[in-house]
Amino acid sequence: MKLIGHEESMLSGAEGKAARKCMQILTALGEIFGAEKMIPVETVQISGVSYDNLGDAGLEFLRELAADGRAKVPTTLNPAGMDTEDWRALGIPEDFARKQTEVIAAFTKMGVDATCSCTPYLIGNLPKPGAHIAWGESSAVTFANSVLGARTNKEGGPSSVAASLTGCTPAYGLHLDEHRRPKVRVMLETDLETKLEFGAFGKALGEALDGRIPLIEGISTRRWDLLKALCAAFATYGGAPIFHIAGGTSEQWSPPADAISIGRDEIVRAARALDDGADRVDFVFLGCPHLSLDELREIAELLRGKTVTKELWLGVARRIKEQADAAGITEILVAAGAKMACDTCHVVAPLRGRFDTFATNSAKGIYYGRSKNRFKSVFRTTEECIRLATEK
Ligand code: F3S
Repeated sequence: MKLIGHEESMLSGAEGKAARKCMQILTALGEIFGAEKMIPVETVQISGVSYDNLGDAGLEFLRELAADGRAKVPTTLNPAGMDTEDWRALGIPEDFARKQTEVIAAFTKMGVDATCSCTPYLIGNLPKPGAHIAWGESSAVTFANSVLGARTNKEGGPSSVAASLTGCTPAYGLHLDEHRRPKVRVMLETDLETKLEFGAFGKALGEALDGRIPLIEGISTRRWDLLKALCAAFATYGGAPIFHIAGGTSEQWSPPADAISIGRDEIVRAARALDDGADRVDFVFLGCPHLSLDELREIAELLRGKTVTKELWLGVARRIKEQADAAGITEILVAAGAKMACDTCHVVAPLRGRFDTFATNSAKGIYYGRSKNRFKSVFRTTEECIRLATEK
């Protein structure tokens, strides 16, 4: 790889140990993927924040970087293993909380904005079309590429931290035009309305394409709440972290010759495969990816005057919760017995063994609830999830 002045200087150690380590990570990655140079990034979103995933080795790595490493571009964090303020309300053990707090402290020392959300684009980390960025969370990466028209590969924990502390990333993959080109035209032959349907479509699509990038015809909505459900599911079930919607972003591509159709049958089949058919649950999680203010408002309307009888968590960025506080929404949710799960989610929190069967409206949430936490799962609409959370 050809490095320029300040990149060479970071690699030589002239800008400190952390910058050198980070440039070593990025140049190694660039060599593997055949990058010719580095490109500056405008923002970073770091994945691998939960102590449940990092363990002591990950925490030690972050502490070392924090000794002299400082974020060179605006950087936010993916969800942590707990609500960083109100972790006791979520039943998080004290020793876990202590370690998770140390993880966040290391990032804060680096100058990272400790937002802990998988929807950074809802809380100010909002790149413009064409911007080069380095994000880690798969649903956010897919949203950035496909809905916002920004450019990012799916970064791992070390490479996203390295991009933050150097301000650059190797120029390969989805940073380059040729790797963003759609390879298959997808005709969606049915209308989609709910997040559940968009998630089921994302699953069917990801599994049908085997990593090929689609140009999708037949989606007219531009509602972010629906598209983020599609992005999360598509990225989870085998899709490349990008799709194009005909007329969706500023990127214009001619339709590829290969074409497939996806209709109501495929979507119903995908949804059924995500539901274990239980009629009672002991846990409900909404907010995978993290909820927008509109979604919180919708849930508050569904909960108004009701009482939650099961554990109900609402995954949300703290800044969105603060907006909900100001709008009087949180009051309704908490009065009904819902728990605001800021900074975290049902996957990255240490929940294995605590619940048996959970319900969610997120296709991605089902995948990781099953695989990481071994929950039985129930895949339902938001309305149905609230019904399950409040039934006697
Ligand atoms: Fe976000 Fe956790 Fe889902 S990080 S996308 S809420 S699995």
